[in-house]
Amino acid sequence: MDTAVVAQYSKSDFAGDVRAGLLRPGQKELPSKYLYDEVGSALFEAISVLPEYGLTRADERLLRRHARDIVSRIKTQVLVAEMGSGSGKKTRWILEALARRQRTTYCPIEISPTALARCQTELGQIEYVSIVGFERPYLDGLLAAASGRREHEHLLVLFLGSTIGNFDRDAGERFLTEVRRILYPGDALLLGTDLEKPLPQLLAAYNDSIGVTAAFNLNLLARINRELGANFDFAAFRHEARYNPSERRVEMHLRSMCDQTVTIARAECTVSFAKDETIWTESSHKYRAEEIPAMARRNGYCCDSQWMDSEWPFAESLLIAQ
Ligand code: AVJ
Repeated sequence: MDTAVVAQYSKSDFAGDVRAGLLRPGQKELPSKYLYDEVGSALFEAISVLPEYGLTRADERLLRRHARDIVSRIKTQVLVAEMGSGSGKKTRWILEALARRQRTTYCPIEISPTALARCQTELGQIEYVSIVGFERPYLDGLLAAASGRREHEHLLVLFLGSTIGNFDRDAGERFLTEVRRILYPGDALLLGTDLEKPLPQLLAAYNDSIGVTAAFNLNLLARINRELGANFDFAAFRHEARYNPSERRVEMHLRSMCDQTVTIARAECTVSFAKDETIWTESSHKYRAEEIPAMARRNGYCCDSQWMDSEWPFAESLLIAQ
């Protein structure tokens, strides 16, 4: 119904982060959040409909099938806040189930203004749902959304799509604790996590046969060229996705095909790459369903229930703040 956007937060320092990540000794790396500019977000949407990549469909299937059950387990009178809403497509099921019993305010939190606008188009028409978008990093946005809650109103925080998988395990736990500090006892966090699955299925999801994931990964170099005036030659780098069994995560890298140097004008640096050296661009951690209740307990929640997809192992877990 009505929609509004709460003013944007100071932009992160792309040039500084690129410089630090590419000049550091040892493994070069770039923060995965920079994969999602306008082109990257569109490429991720394309990935999410690839036959090899079942993650997004599993997430949406679970929410569609179990929305009523999920909603029936949380308190009435909730303010919904979603961290990293993307297009917001799969959130529709939760909002519709809630709106059946009460007027609902939905606060998508997104650093991408394009994603936020799309989310408002996608979900702005649901009856009895008002949208207030926050163009901010997750925790700042959550704090701002939570400060707008009315007395007696509980929070339902959504963190879907296995976005938590981008964090290293320790950082993921710390993040759950940070979220918990913003919540009151009885508030809820619905957490989506991708689960371990057979290696061929997992690797195919990040090495799709027509190269959309490769384009998604290489777009990070294209973005550095566009925004920071660099001269990366995309033909001289190759997308690679590998499974790290001890960390139980898929890692995406960009491998340099030759010895080369790249100049990044607006980061004021020149970077050398040896042949076969890689830039680590993303991690996607995989979980076991039993790990989630234990993680919840360690960080101040109780896992009330879990819903799992059998076609593509994935779990939605409803965590209640203690
Ligand atoms: C949006 C972070 C869940 O890790 O699977 C998809 C991103 N990267 N293909 C994931 C992604 C390569 C995705 N997440």
